[in-house]
Amino acid sequence: MIGPDELLTTTRAVRRRLDLDRDVPQALVDECLRIAQQAPTGGNRRIARFVVVRDAGLRRELGRLYREGWRRYLAEGVGSGPPRRVPGRDREALAMQRRVAASARHLADAIDRVPVHVIPCVTPRTDGADAVTQASVLGSVMPAVWSYMLAARARGLGTAWTTIHLFEERAVAELLGIPDDHMQVALIPTAFHTGARFSPAPRPPLDEFRSVDGW
Ligand SMILES: Cc1cc2nc3c(=O)[nH]c(=O)nc-3n(C[C@H](O)[C@H](O)[C@H](O)COP(=O)(O)O)c2cc1C
Repeated sequence: MIGPDELLTTTRAVRRRLDLDRDVPQALVDECLRIAQQAPTGGNRRIARFVVVRDAGLRRELGRLYREGWRRYLAEGVGSGPPRRVPGRDREALAMQRRVAASARHLADAIDRVPVHVIPCVTPRTDGADAVTQASVLGSVMPAVWSYMLAARARGLGTAWTTIHLFEERAVAELLGIPDDHMQVALIPTAFHTGARFSPAPRPPLDEFRSVDGW
């Protein structure tokens, strides 16, 4: 069993190394979800619900919507417009950005063959909500999502946090019967992974990430 620091530093977005030919027992997914239920929530409220998608027909349709989301992401981008090159980034960072894009594209192409998808949802929706509501509602589901991914990694499963399907959130809600007052926050493809090792990823110096006693 890997230790906590290794688990926390080597839980990567797994896309190319998902084993698309091996079934994932629901009991194993449930183990991970039971661990996810232990994550903190605002006011100890139980406002999150995780939808597990296993049915091949549903995964095919979900895959179609995910790829439509991917197409819209390339055309429209997220928030501030289409994905752009960041000026001044060094070569290594650009090469990494390209690798991530190629890997994300690979996942979009293979998504209907991933045996299990997990879609975390939360209520109420935060569209237009104030900062406290947004932080409280989203903070009551996101820790559980990461716990799910960590628990999965500890059991030999690979996952990736994805959001691209949210371009088609309404269509996905209709497909899965998710009520209108619930908001989907991610889609986590889940499969056993191939290969044995994952490593910590390069990150900027700590000084760019934290400041003490003020900004
Ligand atoms: C909020 C969020 C949204 C993401 N959306 C996608 C996505 O839609 N598709 C995808 O392939 N990866 C997505 N990712 C995965 C990131 O690309 C990945 O975490 C990042 O490149 C760092 O790689 P690592 O997790 O292996 O360190 C997302 C990650 C986060 C946290």
